[in-house]
Amino acid sequence: MCYNYIVTIKLRRCIDILSKIRNIIGDSKLAYVRSFGCQLNISDGEKIKGLLKNAGYRFTDDETKADLIILNTCAVRENAEDRVFGIVGSMKKLKEVKPSLIIGIAGCMTAQSHIAEKIKKSYPQVDFVVGTSALSSIPKLLLDCLNGQKFGVDISEYDDFSAVAEQVRDSSFKASVPIMFGCNNFCTYCIVPYVRGRERSRKADDIVAEVKGLVQNGYKEIMLLGQNVNSYGNDSGEANSFPKLLRAVNDIDGDFIIRFMSSHPKDASEELIDTIFECDKVAKHLHLPLQSGSSDVLQRMNRRYTAEKYLEIVDYIRSKDPAFSLTTDLIVGFPNETDDDFQATLDIIKRVKYDNIYSFIYSKRTGTKAAEMPDFTPDEVKSQRMRKLLEVQREISSENYRRFIGKKMRVLVDDISKKREGYVSGKSNEFIIVEFEGDKSLIGQFVDVEITDAMNWAVMGRKI
Ligand code: SAM
Ligand code: SF4
Ligand code: F3S
Repeated sequence: MCYNYIVTIKLRRCIDILSKIRNIIGDSKLAYVRSFGCQLNISDGEKIKGLLKNAGYRFTDDETKADLIILNTCAVRENAEDRVFGIVGSMKKLKEVKPSLIIGIAGCMTAQSHIAEKIKKSYPQVDFVVGTSALSSIPKLLLDCLNGQKFGVDISEYDDFSAVAEQVRDSSFKASVPIMFGCNNFCTYCIVPYVRGRERSRKADDIVAEVKGLVQNGYKEIMLLGQNVNSYGNDSGEANSFPKLLRAVNDIDGDFIIRFMSSHPKDASEELIDTIFECDKVAKHLHLPLQSGSSDVLQRMNRRYTAEKYLEIVDYIRSKDPAFSLTTDLIVGFPNETDDDFQATLDIIKRVKYDNIYSFIYSKRTGTKAAEMPDFTPDEVKSQRMRKLLEVQREISSENYRRFIGKKMRVLVDDISKKREGYVSGKSNEFIIVEFEGDKSLIGQFVDVEITDAMNWAVMGRKI
């Protein structure tokens, strides 16, 4: 049966159930939805809110006032899961105070059957569990709870309802647009392919139409999302079609900036890099996750590139612009990472001079290949390496950021500064945090700023 047809049937069924819920709850019930993890999950959280809005719920940021709580979880590291278990545990009290409270757990944690079982067994305050691939089941599970059923669970696979679901967006000027779902790469440390399924790309026309709508509604930043955007279109037989998609989005009229994440180095082509330089709306920044500077570790991670191949891509970018902004993800303490392996990572970050790194201590994930690998590196050594990595990067960032002093940067203001009163904070085209004097009326606007000072986490400036 045609895939779109199935999604349309699901959408109709959902609309029907949502109206039944509306009839039961009226319009005074409050929902609290909290998302953890990556931007794709946050985007799913906005779609869960879309469903709840159509069921008649309004939203609160205060879980003690809520009639319905949905936690949209992340499973990428153990500490992310522990945090959610802690929060779910503390919700027992809320349920004691308000027995009619409904608690649902969604997202990547619940897509693992052993976690769904654990929640069912040890957390009786939870009413339903729904996997990442079964968003369209939320209305049915909710209706069952409202009709007094005890515990509902749906962790079935491949429900790309997410592609068509209405969204209640958290921001009125920055929008995430998933272009594909799932991942085929099976990096040996990573749980994502197990909880998000195989790659499924959305149609380019649908993506372009969505972006057009967002831009017409005043959105200034569009973030195209996928676990590996470089394999966008591969599942429909159109290899290397992400650059084409970027060009199509770039052709949309309007004053907005295009970002994308993540770009797997094994598929980062020269065509992609040329496209970034040729498209005026595409941000001049690339997030290129390295994970480790050691080719040996990269092989054990199944990353399918070597450190040398990675540096070739960097050299190609820097041959076009020596100051081009790069950021990366790094894992410290992969099983049996040696001192030499770690030194290779330090060597690469000193050579590439990233503007920022996102670094994580390796976390063992049940069901992945790396979880079976022997690991003799003590935890204390891993922590020491992490501290060293952060220390080296701090020096690199503060030196790097000085290149912007005296320059003009175009900044999309996203908030008031958390550090200085009377200041606002935003991101430059190069994805650098910029702070300058201003008030909240600037939030959501592009502002030209002259950079006057640099720190290791941001640059400071004054509005031109
Ligand atoms: N698809 C993206 C890519 O390949 O770059 C990464 C997505 S993953 C959700 C974000 C980051 O989490 C990864 O780049 C990796 O650095 C980190 N990560 C994933 N699994 C991890 C694990 N088991 N332990 C520690 N960090 C992990
Ligand atoms: Fe995980 Fe690798 Fe897929 Fe990224 S590319 S989501 S790290 S398996
Ligand atoms: Fe976490 Fe799932 Fe994203 S595991 S990082 S929320 S895809």
